[in-house]
Amino acid sequence: METAALKKEFVKLYGAGEEPAVYFAPGRVNIIGEHTDYNGGYVLPCAISFGTYLVIRPNGEKRMRFATSNFKYKADVAFAELSGKQGSEWVNYPLGVIDQFVKQGVEIKGFDMYFSGDIPNGAGLSSSASIELVTAVALDDQLRTGISRIELIKIGRAAENQFVGMNCGIMDQFAVGMGKASSAIFLNCRTLDYELVPVEMEGYSIVIMNTNKRRELADSKYNERVKECASALESLRAIRPLADLSDMETNEFLANENVIADKTVRNRARHVISENGRVLDAVAAMKNGDLATMGKLMNASHESLRIDYAVTGKELDAIVHEAWKVEGVVGARMTGAGFGGCAVAIVNNDSIDELIACVGPAYHATTGLSADFYVATVGNGAGRIE
Ligand code: GLA
Repeated sequence: METAALKKEFVKLYGAGEEPAVYFAPGRVNIIGEHTDYNGGYVLPCAISFGTYLVIRPNGEKRMRFATSNFKYKADVAFAELSGKQGSEWVNYPLGVIDQFVKQGVEIKGFDMYFSGDIPNGAGLSSSASIELVTAVALDDQLRTGISRIELIKIGRAAENQFVGMNCGIMDQFAVGMGKASSAIFLNCRTLDYELVPVEMEGYSIVIMNTNKRRELADSKYNERVKECASALESLRAIRPLADLSDMETNEFLANENVIADKTVRNRARHVISENGRVLDAVAAMKNGDLATMGKLMNASHESLRIDYAVTGKELDAIVHEAWKVEGVVGARMTGAGFGGCAVAIVNNDSIDELIACVGPAYHATTGLSADFYVATVGNGAGRIE
Protein backbone atom coordinates (compact mmCIF):
# COMPACT_ATOMS: atom_id res chain seq x y z
CA MET A 1 0.00 0.00 0.00
CA GLU A 2 1.06 3.57 -0.72
CA THR A 3 1.82 5.06 2.71
CA ALA A 4 2.19 8.58 1.25
CA ALA A 5 -1.58 8.70 0.66
CA LEU A 6 -2.24 7.58 4.24
CA LYS A 7 0.07 10.27 5.61
CA LYS A 8 -1.66 12.88 3.46
CA GLU A 9 -5.01 11.86 4.92
CA PHE A 10 -3.48 11.98 8.40
CA VAL A 11 -2.42 15.60 7.87
CA LYS A 12 -5.90 16.45 6.55
CA LEU A 13 -7.41 15.06 9.74
CA TYR A 14 -4.94 16.27 12.34
CA GLY A 15 -2.96 19.07 10.69
CA ALA A 16 0.64 19.43 9.59
CA GLY A 17 3.51 19.00 12.04
CA GLU A 18 6.17 16.48 12.92
CA GLU A 19 6.42 13.51 10.49
CA PRO A 20 4.15 10.70 11.77
CA ALA A 21 5.36 7.09 12.11
CA VAL A 22 3.73 4.21 10.19
CA TYR A 23 3.20 0.65 11.47
CA PHE A 24 1.66 -2.42 9.85
CA ALA A 25 0.13 -5.61 11.23
CA PRO A 26 -1.02 -8.44 8.93
CA GLY A 27 -4.16 -10.56 9.04
CA ARG A 28 -3.89 -14.34 9.20
CA VAL A 29 -5.23 -17.46 7.60
CA ASN A 30 -5.35 -20.68 9.59
CA ILE A 31 -4.39 -23.76 7.60
CA ILE A 32 -5.67 -26.25 10.19
CA GLY A 33 -6.48 -26.41 13.92
CA GLU A 34 -9.80 -24.63 14.38
CA HIS A 35 -11.38 -23.95 17.78
CA THR A 36 -8.49 -25.73 19.44
CA ASP A 37 -6.63 -22.64 20.74
CA TYR A 38 -8.90 -21.91 23.72
CA ASN A 39 -8.73 -25.62 24.53
CA GLY A 40 -4.97 -25.61 25.01
CA GLY A 41 -4.44 -27.26 21.62
CA TYR A 42 -2.39 -26.92 18.45
CA VAL A 43 -2.94 -24.56 15.48
CA LEU A 44 -1.17 -23.91 12.16
CA PRO A 45 -1.85 -20.33 11.01
CA CYS A 46 0.20 -17.98 8.85
CA ALA A 47 0.31 -14.20 8.52
CA ILE A 48 -0.90 -12.84 5.16
CA SER A 49 -0.08 -9.72 3.19
CA PHE A 50 -3.48 -8.10 3.85
CA GLY A 51 -3.41 -6.10 7.04
CA THR A 52 -3.85 -2.86 8.95
CA TYR A 53 -1.72 0.28 8.66
CA LEU A 54 -1.49 2.78 11.49
CA VAL A 55 -0.19 6.32 11.05
CA ILE A 56 0.51 7.79 14.49
CA ARG A 57 1.97 10.95 16.08
CA PRO A 58 2.08 12.27 19.64
CA ASN A 59 -0.34 15.20 20.10
CA GLY A 60 1.05 16.68 23.32
CA GLU A 61 -2.41 16.52 24.91
CA LYS A 62 -4.11 14.22 27.40
CA ARG A 63 -6.35 12.65 24.77
CA MET A 64 -6.34 10.03 22.04
CA ARG A 65 -7.85 10.63 18.62
CA PHE A 66 -8.93 7.80 16.36
CA ALA A 67 -9.99 7.72 12.72
CA THR A 68 -9.96 5.08 9.98
CA SER A 69 -10.40 4.84 6.24
CA ASN A 70 -12.69 1.84 6.78
CA PHE A 71 -15.54 3.37 8.78
CA LYS A 72 -17.02 6.85 9.24
CA TYR A 73 -16.91 6.68 13.04
CA LYS A 74 -14.18 8.80 14.65
CA ALA A 75 -13.40 9.33 18.33
CA ASP A 76 -11.62 11.93 20.42
CA VAL A 77 -11.22 10.52 23.91
CA ALA A 78 -9.82 12.31 26.99
CA PHE A 79 -7.59 10.17 29.24
CA ALA A 80 -10.30 10.14 31.95
CA GLU A 81 -12.72 8.49 29.48
CA LEU A 82 -10.35 5.89 28.03
CA SER A 83 -11.73 2.93 29.95
CA GLY A 84 -15.27 3.36 28.57
CA LYS A 85 -16.49 1.11 25.75
CA GLN A 86 -17.95 2.92 22.73
CA GLY A 87 -21.00 0.84 21.77
CA SER A 88 -19.89 -1.79 19.29
CA GLU A 89 -17.61 0.61 17.39
CA TRP A 90 -14.28 -0.37 15.87
CA VAL A 91 -12.41 1.94 18.30
CA ASN A 92 -13.01 -0.59 21.07
CA TYR A 93 -10.07 -2.61 19.68
CA PRO A 94 -7.45 0.14 20.06
CA LEU A 95 -9.17 1.38 23.24
CA GLY A 96 -8.98 -2.15 24.69
CA VAL A 97 -5.25 -2.24 23.96
CA ILE A 98 -4.67 1.18 25.56
CA ASP A 99 -6.70 0.00 28.57
CA GLN A 100 -4.29 -2.95 28.95
CA PHE A 101 -1.24 -0.66 28.75
CA VAL A 102 -2.75 1.52 31.50
CA LYS A 103 -3.55 -1.57 33.62
CA GLN A 104 0.09 -2.65 33.27
CA GLY A 105 1.18 0.69 34.71
CA VAL A 106 2.52 2.19 31.47
CA GLU A 107 2.53 5.97 31.54
CA ILE A 108 0.73 6.84 28.30
CA LYS A 109 0.93 9.95 26.15
CA GLY A 110 -1.69 11.44 23.86
CA PHE A 111 -1.61 10.27 20.22
CA ASP A 112 -3.43 11.02 16.99
CA MET A 113 -4.04 7.82 15.06
CA TYR A 114 -5.24 7.03 11.58
CA PHE A 115 -5.89 3.39 10.71
CA SER A 116 -6.38 1.87 7.30
CA GLY A 117 -7.02 -1.82 6.69
CA ASP A 118 -7.28 -3.88 3.53
CA ILE A 119 -8.49 -7.08 5.24
CA PRO A 120 -12.07 -7.73 4.14
CA ASN A 121 -14.19 -6.99 7.27
CA GLY A 122 -15.90 -9.91 8.97
CA ALA A 123 -14.13 -12.36 6.68
CA GLY A 124 -12.51 -14.38 9.43
CA LEU A 125 -9.01 -13.22 8.49
CA SER A 126 -8.41 -11.58 11.87
CA SER A 127 -9.00 -7.93 11.15
CA SER A 128 -9.53 -7.52 14.91
CA ALA A 129 -6.22 -9.09 15.97
CA SER A 130 -4.54 -7.04 13.25
CA ILE A 131 -5.85 -3.73 14.61
CA GLU A 132 -5.04 -4.81 18.18
CA LEU A 133 -1.46 -5.72 17.33
CA VAL A 134 -0.79 -2.69 15.17
CA THR A 135 -1.91 -0.53 18.11
CA ALA A 136 0.09 -2.51 20.66
CA VAL A 137 3.29 -2.55 18.60
CA ALA A 138 3.01 1.17 17.79
CA LEU A 139 2.34 2.24 21.39
CA ASP A 140 5.13 0.02 22.66
CA ASP A 141 7.58 1.56 20.21
CA GLN A 142 6.40 5.15 20.65
CA LEU A 143 6.43 4.92 24.45
CA ARG A 144 9.61 2.80 24.59
CA THR A 145 7.96 0.49 27.12
CA GLY A 146 10.26 -2.48 26.52
CA ILE A 147 7.28 -4.87 26.73
CA SER A 148 8.22 -8.14 25.00
CA ARG A 149 6.52 -9.23 21.77
CA ILE A 150 4.87 -12.15 23.50
CA GLU A 151 3.41 -9.82 26.15
CA LEU A 152 2.10 -7.51 23.41
CA ILE A 153 0.38 -10.54 21.88
CA LYS A 154 -1.21 -11.34 25.24
CA ILE A 155 -2.27 -7.68 25.57
CA GLY A 156 -4.05 -7.98 22.22
CA ARG A 157 -5.95 -11.04 23.37
CA ALA A 158 -6.76 -9.50 26.76
CA ALA A 159 -8.14 -6.40 25.00
CA GLU A 160 -10.49 -8.60 23.02
CA ASN A 161 -11.50 -10.80 25.98
CA GLN A 162 -11.92 -8.05 28.57
CA PHE A 163 -12.83 -4.91 26.62
CA VAL A 164 -14.59 -6.17 23.50
CA GLY A 165 -16.10 -9.22 25.25
CA MET A 166 -15.12 -11.93 22.76
CA ASN A 167 -13.53 -14.86 24.61
CA CYS A 168 -11.10 -15.73 21.82
CA GLY A 169 -7.96 -17.81 22.20
CA ILE A 170 -4.41 -16.68 21.41
CA MET A 171 -4.03 -17.96 17.83
CA ASP A 172 -4.87 -14.79 15.91
CA GLN A 173 -2.81 -12.37 17.96
CA PHE A 174 0.09 -14.82 17.94
CA ALA A 175 0.04 -15.27 14.16
CA VAL A 176 -0.28 -11.53 13.59
CA GLY A 177 2.49 -10.75 16.07
CA MET A 178 4.93 -13.55 15.19
CA GLY A 179 4.29 -14.31 11.50
CA LYS A 180 7.25 -15.00 9.21
CA ALA A 181 7.31 -14.81 5.42
CA SER A 182 6.85 -18.20 3.71
CA SER A 183 6.17 -19.96 7.02
CA ALA A 184 3.24 -21.31 8.93
CA ILE A 185 3.39 -21.22 12.72
CA PHE A 186 2.90 -24.57 14.43
CA LEU A 187 1.85 -23.30 17.85
CA ASN A 188 1.09 -25.05 21.11
CA CYS A 189 -1.53 -22.64 22.48
CA ARG A 190 -1.03 -23.73 26.07
CA THR A 191 2.75 -23.43 26.37
CA LEU A 192 3.16 -20.94 23.47
CA ASP A 193 6.07 -23.05 22.21
CA TYR A 194 6.13 -22.80 18.44
CA GLU A 195 7.95 -23.91 15.34
CA LEU A 196 8.03 -22.32 11.89
CA VAL A 197 7.03 -24.76 9.14
CA PRO A 198 7.84 -23.78 5.54
CA VAL A 199 4.71 -23.36 3.43
CA GLU A 200 6.38 -22.85 0.07
CA MET A 201 4.83 -25.76 -1.80
CA GLU A 202 6.35 -26.11 -5.21
CA GLY A 203 3.63 -25.75 -7.83
CA TYR A 204 0.85 -25.17 -5.26
CA SER A 205 -0.69 -22.11 -3.62
CA ILE A 206 -2.79 -21.27 -0.61
CA VAL A 207 -6.04 -19.81 -1.96
CA ILE A 208 -8.47 -17.91 0.26
CA MET A 209 -12.11 -18.12 -0.81
CA ASN A 210 -14.31 -15.40 0.67
CA THR A 211 -18.00 -16.35 0.93
CA ASN A 212 -18.82 -12.66 1.45
CA LYS A 213 -21.32 -13.87 3.99
CA ARG A 214 -20.80 -11.58 6.97
CA ARG A 215 -20.33 -13.38 10.23
CA GLU A 216 -23.59 -12.71 12.06
CA LEU A 217 -23.89 -13.11 15.84
CA ALA A 218 -20.46 -14.67 15.61
CA ASP A 219 -19.32 -13.38 19.00
CA SER A 220 -22.24 -14.81 20.93
CA LYS A 221 -22.12 -18.17 19.13
CA TYR A 222 -18.36 -18.27 19.63
CA ASN A 223 -18.70 -17.62 23.37
CA GLU A 224 -21.36 -20.37 23.48
CA ARG A 225 -18.85 -22.86 21.99
CA VAL A 226 -16.25 -21.80 24.59
CA LYS A 227 -18.78 -22.61 27.34
CA GLU A 228 -19.71 -25.95 25.76
CA CYS A 229 -16.04 -26.93 25.75
CA ALA A 230 -15.70 -26.02 29.42
CA SER A 231 -18.70 -28.22 30.16
CA ALA A 232 -17.23 -31.11 28.14
CA LEU A 233 -13.96 -30.81 30.04
CA GLU A 234 -15.81 -30.94 33.35
CA SER A 235 -17.50 -34.23 32.36
CA LEU A 236 -14.30 -35.79 30.98
CA ARG A 237 -12.53 -35.10 34.26
CA ALA A 238 -14.56 -38.04 35.65
CA ILE A 239 -12.12 -40.25 33.68
CA ARG A 240 -8.87 -38.60 34.77
CA PRO A 241 -7.57 -35.16 35.67
CA LEU A 242 -7.22 -33.07 32.50
CA ALA A 243 -6.03 -29.48 32.26
CA ASP A 244 -7.60 -28.94 28.82
CA LEU A 245 -9.67 -30.86 26.29
CA SER A 246 -6.55 -31.19 24.17
CA ASP A 247 -4.95 -33.40 26.86
CA MET A 248 -7.01 -36.32 25.57
CA GLU A 249 -6.34 -38.16 22.32
CA THR A 250 -9.06 -39.26 19.92
CA ASN A 251 -8.97 -43.00 20.73
CA GLU A 252 -9.32 -42.47 24.45
CA PHE A 253 -12.11 -39.98 23.84
CA LEU A 254 -14.06 -42.28 21.53
CA ALA A 255 -13.85 -45.10 24.08
CA ASN A 256 -15.20 -42.83 26.82
CA GLU A 257 -17.30 -40.19 25.12
CA ASN A 258 -20.52 -41.32 26.78
CA VAL A 259 -19.42 -39.79 30.08
CA ILE A 260 -20.61 -36.58 28.43
CA ALA A 261 -24.37 -36.87 28.81
CA ASP A 262 -25.34 -33.98 26.53
CA LYS A 263 -25.08 -34.99 22.88
CA THR A 264 -24.27 -31.48 21.64
CA VAL A 265 -21.50 -31.04 24.19
CA ARG A 266 -20.15 -34.50 23.30
CA ASN A 267 -20.02 -33.49 19.63
CA ARG A 268 -18.14 -30.29 20.46
CA ALA A 269 -15.49 -32.25 22.38
CA ARG A 270 -15.18 -34.80 19.57
CA HIS A 271 -14.36 -32.00 17.16
CA VAL A 272 -11.77 -30.33 19.38
CA ILE A 273 -9.97 -33.56 20.27
CA SER A 274 -9.94 -34.97 16.74
CA GLU A 275 -8.93 -31.58 15.27
CA ASN A 276 -5.98 -31.39 17.63
CA GLY A 277 -4.77 -34.76 16.33
CA ARG A 278 -5.23 -33.57 12.74
CA VAL A 279 -2.89 -30.62 13.34
CA LEU A 280 -0.10 -32.98 14.42
CA ASP A 281 -0.70 -35.19 11.38
CA ALA A 282 -0.84 -32.15 9.08
CA VAL A 283 2.47 -30.79 10.34
CA ALA A 284 4.10 -34.18 9.75
CA ALA A 285 2.57 -34.30 6.26
CA MET A 286 3.76 -30.79 5.42
CA LYS A 287 7.27 -31.56 6.57
CA ASN A 288 7.28 -34.67 4.36
CA GLY A 289 5.88 -32.75 1.40
CA ASP A 290 2.88 -35.12 1.51
CA LEU A 291 0.23 -32.76 0.16
CA ALA A 292 -2.30 -35.51 -0.49
CA THR A 293 -2.47 -36.35 3.22
CA MET A 294 -2.52 -32.65 4.08
CA GLY A 295 -5.55 -32.16 1.81
CA LYS A 296 -7.44 -35.11 3.32
CA LEU A 297 -6.86 -33.69 6.80
CA MET A 298 -8.15 -30.27 5.73
CA ASN A 299 -11.29 -31.85 4.27
CA ALA A 300 -11.83 -33.90 7.44
CA SER A 301 -11.40 -30.73 9.49
CA HIS A 302 -14.19 -29.03 7.55
CA GLU A 303 -16.56 -31.95 8.04
CA SER A 304 -15.82 -32.07 11.75
CA LEU A 305 -16.50 -28.33 12.01
CA ARG A 306 -19.72 -28.82 10.03
CA ILE A 307 -21.12 -31.87 11.78
CA ASP A 308 -19.72 -31.84 15.31
CA TYR A 309 -18.92 -28.19 15.94
CA ALA A 310 -21.75 -26.70 13.82
CA VAL A 311 -19.94 -23.50 12.86
CA THR A 312 -19.88 -23.71 9.07
CA GLY A 313 -23.30 -22.73 7.69
CA LYS A 314 -24.62 -23.07 4.16
CA GLU A 315 -22.28 -20.57 2.51
CA LEU A 316 -19.03 -22.08 3.82
CA ASP A 317 -20.32 -25.58 3.09
CA ALA A 318 -21.26 -24.62 -0.46
CA ILE A 319 -17.93 -22.99 -1.28
CA VAL A 320 -15.85 -25.80 0.26
CA HIS A 321 -17.87 -28.65 -1.23
CA GLU A 322 -17.72 -27.00 -4.68
CA ALA A 323 -13.96 -26.56 -4.35
CA TRP A 324 -13.54 -30.26 -3.57
CA LYS A 325 -14.97 -31.05 -7.03
CA VAL A 326 -12.14 -29.26 -8.83
CA GLU A 327 -9.26 -31.46 -9.82
CA GLY A 328 -6.11 -29.80 -8.62
CA VAL A 329 -7.67 -28.80 -5.29
CA VAL A 330 -5.66 -30.76 -2.75
CA GLY A 331 -7.95 -29.87 0.15
CA ALA A 332 -10.29 -27.12 1.35
CA ARG A 333 -11.91 -26.10 4.62
CA MET A 334 -13.41 -23.14 6.43
CA THR A 335 -10.88 -20.99 8.29
CA GLY A 336 -11.21 -18.88 11.44
CA ALA A 337 -14.21 -18.83 13.76
CA GLY A 338 -16.73 -19.84 11.06
CA PHE A 339 -20.38 -18.69 10.80
CA GLY A 340 -19.50 -17.10 7.44
CA GLY A 341 -16.22 -15.54 6.34
CA CYS A 342 -13.51 -17.36 4.44
CA ALA A 343 -12.39 -20.83 3.48
CA VAL A 344 -8.84 -21.88 2.65
CA ALA A 345 -7.71 -24.29 -0.06
CA ILE A 346 -4.42 -25.70 -1.26
CA VAL A 347 -4.54 -25.64 -5.04
CA ASN A 348 -2.28 -26.68 -7.90
CA ASN A 349 -1.17 -23.46 -9.60
CA ASP A 350 -2.43 -24.74 -12.95
CA SER A 351 -5.93 -25.17 -11.50
CA ILE A 352 -6.46 -21.78 -9.85
CA ASP A 353 -8.28 -20.30 -12.86
CA GLU A 354 -10.47 -23.36 -13.09
CA LEU A 355 -11.24 -23.13 -9.36
CA ILE A 356 -12.44 -19.57 -9.78
CA ALA A 357 -14.36 -20.35 -12.98
CA CYS A 358 -16.16 -23.37 -11.47
CA VAL A 359 -16.66 -22.48 -7.81
CA GLY A 360 -17.69 -18.83 -8.37
CA PRO A 361 -20.84 -19.51 -10.45
CA ALA A 362 -21.81 -22.70 -8.59
CA TYR A 363 -21.53 -20.87 -5.26
CA HIS A 364 -23.62 -18.00 -6.61
CA ALA A 365 -26.28 -20.42 -7.85
CA THR A 366 -26.67 -21.99 -4.37
CA THR A 367 -26.40 -18.89 -2.21
CA GLY A 368 -27.08 -15.83 -4.37
CA LEU A 369 -23.75 -14.39 -3.19
CA SER A 370 -20.59 -13.64 -5.16
CA ALA A 371 -17.40 -15.16 -3.84
CA ASP A 372 -13.93 -13.56 -3.97
CA PHE A 373 -10.70 -15.49 -4.38
CA TYR A 374 -7.22 -14.41 -3.29
CA VAL A 375 -3.93 -16.24 -3.68
CA ALA A 376 -2.35 -15.77 -0.25
CA THR A 377 1.11 -14.30 0.18
CA VAL A 378 2.51 -15.47 3.49
CA GLY A 379 4.13 -12.46 5.09
CA ASN A 380 5.80 -11.15 8.24
CA GLY A 381 4.30 -10.17 11.59
CA ALA A 382 3.55 -6.68 12.92
CA GLY A 383 6.19 -3.93 12.94
CA ARG A 384 7.17 -0.37 12.09
CA ILE A 385 7.46 0.30 8.38
CA GLU A 386 8.31 4.01 8.39
C1 GLA B 1 -11.31 -16.89 16.06
C2 GLA B 1 -10.60 -16.65 17.39
C3 GLA B 1 -9.40 -17.57 17.55
C4 GLA B 1 -9.78 -19.03 17.26
C5 GLA B 1 -10.55 -19.15 15.95
C6 GLA B 1 -11.10 -20.55 15.74
O1 GLA B 1 -10.49 -16.50 15.00
O2 GLA B 1 -10.18 -15.31 17.52
O3 GLA B 1 -8.86 -17.44 18.85
O4 GLA B 1 -10.48 -19.60 18.33
O5 GLA B 1 -11.65 -18.25 15.91
O6 GLA B 1 -10.05 -21.44 15.59
